[in-house]
Amino acid sequence: MSRLVEYITRSRVWRSFFRHGWPDNPLDRSLVMTTNIFFHLHPVKVNRNSLKATYSLGLGVISVIAFLELSITGLLLMFNYVPTVERAYGYIVTLQTQVPFGQLLRNMHRWGAHLMVIVVVLHMARVFYTGAYKPPREFNWVVGVVLLILTLGASFTGYLLPWDQLAFWAITVGTSVAAYEPLMGSTIKAFLLGGPEVGQEALTRFYALHIMLIPAAMALLISLHLWRVRKDGGLAANELKEEGEA
Ligand code: HEM
Repeated sequence: MSRLVEYITRSRVWRSFFRHGWPDNPLDRSLVMTTNIFFHLHPVKVNRNSLKATYSLGLGVISVIAFLELSITGLLLMFNYVPTVERAYGYIVTLQTQVPFGQLLRNMHRWGAHLMVIVVVLHMARVFYTGAYKPPREFNWVVGVVLLILTLGASFTGYLLPWDQLAFWAITVGTSVAAYEPLMGSTIKAFLLGGPEVGQEALTRFYALHIMLIPAAMALLISLHLWRVRKDGGLAANELKEEGEA
C-alpha cells in the first residue's frame, strides 16, 4: 500500500497537480502557499496578528463570496428573464409560483445583494479602523472606493428589473434625486433613463449595466484589489510588532 502511495505521489501527473512535498519543512510549507492560486494571495510569512479572526473579521473574503454567489444566481435568473416591460414582471411571478426552487433562487439573489452592500461597508469601516488605508495601501483604498460605488450601482440597477410597482417608483425617485447632482445630474439621469421617464429604454439600459458592464468591471477590479493586497505585503497587521518583540 505504502509503495502504491509512493508510486502515485512520485508520478509526473501527481507532481503536476501538487508541486510540493509534504509540508513538514520550511521550503515545502512556502511552496504550498506560492503554488496554490488561492493561498498565494497570502505572503509566504505572516504576522500572527493578521491571522486573528477578530482582526479582519473575514469581511473582504465574505464580500468576494457574496460577489460569486450573486454571479451564479444571477446567471441562473437570466435563463428565463426577458428585459421587456411586457414580460419582465410576468417572469418574476412565474419564477416564484411555478419554477422549482424559483423563489429560493430569487431570494438568494436579492438577500445576497443586501448582504453584500452591508458587508462591503463594514469591510471599509474595518480597513479605516485599523488604519490600513495608509501608505503603501492608498491605491488599494481608492480601488476599494470604486468597488463600493460599483456594488451600490449593481444594487440600484438590479432593483428595476422585476418591473413591479416598488421597482418603478424607487427608480423614478432615485433617478430624480440623481438629477440634483450639481455638475452632471441631468446627464446622469438622461444616461440612465434613455428618455424622459422610466420606460423600456431605462429597463434595457439598467439590464445591460446590471448583467454585463458593472459585474465585468467588478470582476476586473476585485482581481486588481486582491493582487494589490498581496503586493502591499498582505494585511497591514503584518507590519505590527509581534507580542514580546521590542
Ligand atoms: C466588492 C467589494 C470589495 C471586495 C470584494 C474586497 C475584498 C478584499 C479582500 C478579500 C481583502 C483581504 C482580506 C480582508 O481584509 O478581509 C481586502 C483588503 C483591503 N480592502 Fe477590500 N474589498 C472590497 C471593498 C473595499 C472597500 C470599499 C475599501 C475601502 C474603500 C477596501 C479597501 C481595502 C484595503 C485598503 C485592504 C487592505 C487591508 C489591510 O491591509 O488590512 N476594500 N479587500
